[in-house]
Amino acid sequence: MTTLLHTPLVDLLGCRYPIVQTAMGWVARPELVAASCNAGAFGFLAAASLRAKEVGPAIDRVHSLTDRPFGVNFHMFQPGAAQIVDTIIAAKVKAVSFGRGPDKVMIKRFRDAGIVCMPTVGALRHAQKMVQIGIDVLIIQGGEGGGHTGSVPTTLLLPQVLDAVKVPVVAAGGFFDGRGLAAALAYGAAGVAMGTRFLMTRDCPVPEVTKKRYVTAGLDDIVLTTRLDGLQHRLIRNEVLADIEHAGPTRLLVGALRNALRLKRLTGAKLGELVVAARGMQREGGLSFGQALMAANSPVLIERSMIQGRPSEGVMSTGMVAGILGDLPSCDELVASMVNDAEARLRQLCTGV
Ligand SMILES: Cc1cc2nc3c(=O)[nH]c(=O)nc-3n(C[C@H](O)[C@H](O)[C@H](O)COP(=O)(O)O)c2cc1C
Repeated sequence: MTTLLHTPLVDLLGCRYPIVQTAMGWVARPELVAASCNAGAFGFLAAASLRAKEVGPAIDRVHSLTDRPFGVNFHMFQPGAAQIVDTIIAAKVKAVSFGRGPDKVMIKRFRDAGIVCMPTVGALRHAQKMVQIGIDVLIIQGGEGGGHTGSVPTTLLLPQVLDAVKVPVVAAGGFFDGRGLAAALAYGAAGVAMGTRFLMTRDCPVPEVTKKRYVTAGLDDIVLTTRLDGLQHRLIRNEVLADIEHAGPTRLLVGALRNALRLKRLTGAKLGELVVAARGMQREGGLSFGQALMAANSPVLIERSMIQGRPSEGVMSTGMVAGILGDLPSCDELVASMVNDAEARLRQLCTGV
């Protein structure tokens, strides 16, 4: 690698290239994390979809597949979050990222243990709040990004945050190739983070029938809705989404209650823990309790697509990029092509050849 791609992120995380594979519930399992890390990127294990007692064994599994450093993602309102924090600190993983939260006390515990804290934010005010509580690196996710996402496009959020903070900033939302990596570095970012592009690889353990939906989706098949779980969520249009879009309030409530019970079975969480989780998300997201109750829809319906391989009965979170991607490279092929292309473009811009 030339010095062109040697950014502060590479030094902080100990990876070869400034490319992050982000956490995706039910998707970023040990096989994908290890394949990303072995390819030279930095992978995050998704622990938000794991029971607390499953996090330690999942970390061990990543260690058995790679000797490269990696991170863990979870959110502070999930059942068993305190136990997950202890597990991550005991395992001394390199970095943590957060779907929701974190708070100052949690950040201090991780940083005292030498763990790099890099939350994802979708708005300037959240970026500023995270810097105030002491995080090390920000991942900013523009509106075209996958899963829960804000409204500000990456091309506006990235310079806005870069102008306002001093910590390294990683750009996410819509990245998939070497051009994007070169452009992010030119903006002043320390690297890029990608979810959907890593989901769409041969190394990703999601069933082929579900990955096929991503490969065949066009831009018109990708929608942003609040009807699934009360928050802005980017999804591939399918049978379940069509049903939710047309359902009245009673049917939505009944569906949410049914999914809350399924989530209880799936995660082994007690009902009280799910209520605490819903209340935490309610406070953070400014939601009504009915909307917070709908939070159970996402994990249950994503699991159906990503684990059970039933994409017409579940939902598929996605970034806009799925609408223009039509292949499934290996992580090695993906990272190598991004690195070669980004280096060539940056060199050409610097020297004219
Ligand atoms: C299928 C899927 C599941 C996701 N699950 C999570 C999650 O559990 N926690 C989280 O913090 N972000 C989650 N995200 C967001 C990603 O980590 C990442 O920020 C986003 O995908 C970046 O945008 P991109 O898809 O355009 O690369 C998910 C995204 C996708 C596509």
